[in-house]
Formats: sequence, structure tokens, C-alpha cells
Amino acid sequence: MNATLLKRLFRAIQSGSAPDVESLCQRIVADEKRVGHTQIAQELEGILAQPTKAPSSPGLLTRMPTSRRDSAPLLQEIPVEQLRHEMVLPSSVEKRFQRVEKEFAARSRLAKHGLKPRHRILLYGPPGCGKSLGAERLAWNTGLPLRKVRFDTLLSSYFGETMANLRKVFDAAQASPCALFLDECDTLARSRTERNDVGEVTRITNGLLEMLEHHRGDGLVIAATNLDSALDTALFRRFDEVLKIPLPGIDEIERLLRTTLSAMETDRALAWRDLAQEMDGMSGSEVVHIGQNAAKHSVLEGRKRVSEADIRHALAEIHERHHQAP
Ligand SMILES: Nc1ncnc2c1ncn2[C@@H]1O[C@H](COP(=O)(O)OP(=O)(O)O)[C@@H](O)[C@H]1O
Ligand SMILES: [Mg+2]
Repeated sequence: MNATLLKRLFRAIQSGSAPDVESLCQRIVADEKRVGHTQIAQELEGILAQPTKAPSSPGLLTRMPTSRRDSAPLLQEIPVEQLRHEMVLPSSVEKRFQRVEKEFAARSRLAKHGLKPRHRILLYGPPGCGKSLGAERLAWNTGLPLRKVRFDTLLSSYFGETMANLRKVFDAAQASPCALFLDECDTLARSRTERNDVGEVTRITNGLLEMLEHHRGDGLVIAATNLDSALDTALFRRFDEVLKIPLPGIDEIERLLRTTLSAMETDRALAWRDLAQEMDGMSGSEVVHIGQNAAKHSVLEGRKRVSEADIRHALAEIHERHHQAP
């Protein structure tokens, strides 16, 4: 194969120009035929004839959008192998997650009836109860790549730039289906603009909501926020599904604790229920930490089984931390 073509192909890949890559591939096939390499030419043609990228696996050439000012990436993709998907939720919340996942799986069947799966999802609730985890789980169960919006690079001190960046993010999600994740999207409402202009923040938020409303991508858009007060009805209206992830109840605490310790041997007489009750009011994240710390404590003490004392020890530590907190 000729070196000039090879270099042009590399440049086309580097610049992300899919049409150029395609025409160069055709040129290479023609070139190989011309010099009598029919076998390789046929094989190459065969590869080109294969269906293009599946919606869930964008090809190599999919370009991640970058910010207008300094070309910093606006999205961060979480590799599939890093997605966590084991969640403990009250069954009513679990069912609503599953409904989103089922509708997505049935999207072509729904489309035949002119129906669309719920695809604009808002996750809200207290910190540490599984909003970020919930987004990972949705991506895992739908097979969509999880692309997290980087507010640090997206927000510019110039209104026009912020809006242009937002536009790029939604365009990218339209061009290549993904689970677009706006985690802690209240960051937006707290952002400071050049002139410290509150009106501008409102306009950014409205711009985002408008893009959300008109978004026609084939994937999901997932937003997460801790704020309750900031959620007015105008906001709820833009989402097809509003999933409230509450603090875990006693049942969920017990399940969280048991799952966290499932890889360990535990004392048979462990009073799971009593312990769970003592953790009432804690976040999922705190319960998981208690389980992990109890496990570590027992290992460091050289014991074979995690005991109730280990868990109480870890529990006391968290209580202490709460008291120290300002
Ligand atoms: N419902 C849950 N099921 C399983 N683990 C949970 C749950 N909620 C929280 N956790 C644990 O706490 C950690 C923090 O949760 P995260 O999803 O980041 O909370 P949030 O985004 O709501 O602040 C998770 O990585 C997980 O270990
Ligand atoms: Mg989070």
C-alpha cells in the first residue's frame, strides 16, 4: 500500500473526519485491486460492507466534544468495566429504575406504535444514597456508554461560551447515543458568571432545560441533584421520569450491610436487624463504609469472622465523626 495513502488515512482518522476515512478506504481497495492484490482487496471490501457501528458502541472516530475556549474535553466517558450496578433500593424505587431499563430495551417495539421510551431521567435525593451509582446502573443495564458532563470545563465566565459548550454536548449525544450524565447539576445554578449576574445563571439553566426538552437523541439523558428546593414544577415537567432516591429504610440498611460483608465470614449470632436499626437515618454511603471498616477492623485484629463488636466499633467511629463535624 502506498505511503501517501497511508499518511492521508492516518490524518483523516486523527482529524476525526469519517467521510474522508471512508473515501480513503475505497481508494485503498481500488489501489490493491490495481496492483493485483485481489484477495486482500476483497477482504477489505468485505469489512467496509459490514454494518456500521452499533448504537451502544460508537466507532473509534466518534469525537468527544471540547470546550470552545481551550479545547478541553466536555465529556468524560466511564469505561464499561468500571460501571457499578449492584444497588439496594426500596422495591418501589427499584421498579421504576427497571421500567426505564425495560422501555429502553423495548424501544423498537415501542417505536412501531409511535411511542418513545422514557429517556430524560432526573435522579434526586439526599447525598450518598445512590444517585451517581444509579446513573452507572442505568448505563450498565441499557448497554449505553456513560458520558459524564464536565461542568468544570463546560462553564465559562462568558454566557455565550457556556451555551455553545452545552450545545456541543447535546449535539454529541445526538450524534452518538449514550447515557449523557449531568451529575450534581445544581453546580450550574451555583455557578458564577463574569458579572456575578444571577439572571445569567437563570438563563443558562433555562437554556439547558430547553435543550433537554428538544433533545432527540436515541440514548438517555440523566441528571442528578441533591437539591429539593431548586426543583420546581417547571423543572419536573422537562423530565419523563423523576426518580427520588430516599435515605435507606431499615430493610435497605440491613441489605446494604449484608451485601457489603458478603465476601466475609460473619458471626452466626450477628444481630443484623438491631444494628440496622441503630443506623437509621444514615445514608447508603455511610452504611457501606461501616461495613467496610468493620471488615477491615476484623482482619487487622486477626479474626476469622466479622463480629458484632467490629460493626459497633465502626458505627461508633461514624457517630464520632458526626459530632466532630462543624
Ligand atoms: N442505594 C445504594 N445501593 C448500594 N450502594 C449504595 C447506595 N447508595 C449509596 N451507596 C454506596 O455509597 C456510595 C456513594 O453513593 P453515590 O451514588 O455516589 O451517592 P450520591 O450520588 O447520591 O451522593 C456508592 O458508591 C455506594 O458504595
Ligand atoms: Mg453523586
